[in-house]
Amino acid sequence: MIEVHLRNVDIDGGVTLHWHGYDVPCGEDGAPGTTQDTVVPGGEFTYRFRADQAGTYWYHTHHASHVGVRRGLYGPLVVTERDAEEGLDLTLPVHTIDATVLLADNDVPIEQPAPAGVPVRLRLINTDSDPHRIALVGMAFRVAAVDGRNLNEPGEVSAVAVRLPAGGRADLVFTMPSDSVALVLDDHRAGLRLSGVRIGADEAPVADPAGWPELDLLHYGVAAPAPFDPDQPDRRITMVLDRGVALVDGLPAYAHTVDGYGHPSIPDQIVGAGEVVRFTVVNRSLETHPWHLHGHPVLVLSRNEALSTGSPLWVDTFDVRGGETWDVAFHATNPGVWMNHCHNLPHAHQGMMLRLRYEGVTTPFDNAHHGH
Ligand code: C2O
Ligand code: CU
Repeated sequence: MIEVHLRNVDIDGGVTLHWHGYDVPCGEDGAPGTTQDTVVPGGEFTYRFRADQAGTYWYHTHHASHVGVRRGLYGPLVVTERDAEEGLDLTLPVHTIDATVLLADNDVPIEQPAPAGVPVRLRLINTDSDPHRIALVGMAFRVAAVDGRNLNEPGEVSAVAVRLPAGGRADLVFTMPSDSVALVLDDHRAGLRLSGVRIGADEAPVADPAGWPELDLLHYGVAAPAPFDPDQPDRRITMVLDRGVALVDGLPAYAHTVDGYGHPSIPDQIVGAGEVVRFTVVNRSLETHPWHLHGHPVLVLSRNEALSTGSPLWVDTFDVRGGETWDVAFHATNPGVWMNHCHNLPHAHQGMMLRLRYEGVTTPFDNAHHGH
């Protein structure tokens, strides 16, 4: 049981903590105006939830998050298995502030000694609003987990880049070779160098990851049956994402819209407890919208009607690029009122945020227009 005391000392606008991707009970979800009031300076809030899902997650403020997260109100949440294997386990949030890309707390490459033969796990977390491209130079690797959830039989890959959507995570694993391995961010920024202890630290791997293809997670790993039949959903919901003039917080704006509306005018989505719900997300705009549902992982079914054929891919954020259509499904087993939004946080602020509500559930909190 995890208990977190949040005390706001001096964040004038207020803060909350949202446990991104962690399926906490709704009252712990940190959505201001929906699951709690914003914690104002001098105020406090206590969160309690069970650490019953091992994996790589993160947390961040959910109040004025487009400003607060960028300025640093976030952190990693890593839950390990009780019998976790020994080895080198590094948690590496990628974060941009003032055009500088940080890896963990570093704006210069991290030099990390690593003995040959040691198992390595790199837990990458994208805390930004734009995607990052991660490349590992000098070693084949597996993507063991995406968004905290293990993939089924992930194969070894090399000379491919891993795309991390806004808010997304990937755990890269490999066994340390006797020379060095480098992690390259966005094809140019050297983020981390693991050096085999027997070899001079100056032997940088030579390769240019800029031309590497992106690993397509819809066709990676081995298929396995889903715990429900996504082709027989109890409910289908379509969301059309676009750009246009709409009311945002009651004022006309050039907004990021869902079905033509901006928040809080986008109608709530209603689901029933126990239902299998299928979402079709259509992006009619030119921008990428990293879609994020609170409280439930979604199973990716298809992108542009091409079915996912790899490992079941359970994510909490999926990157719907301009012109794309994604189909995903989830099991409605966590009753509450949940935010459902674009995780490009300025887009969420400019309209692209709504609520998914279980039938019969209401909230006593009411400042929906501040709920982002
Ligand atoms: Cu990390 Cu509502 O988001
Ligand atoms: Cu967006």
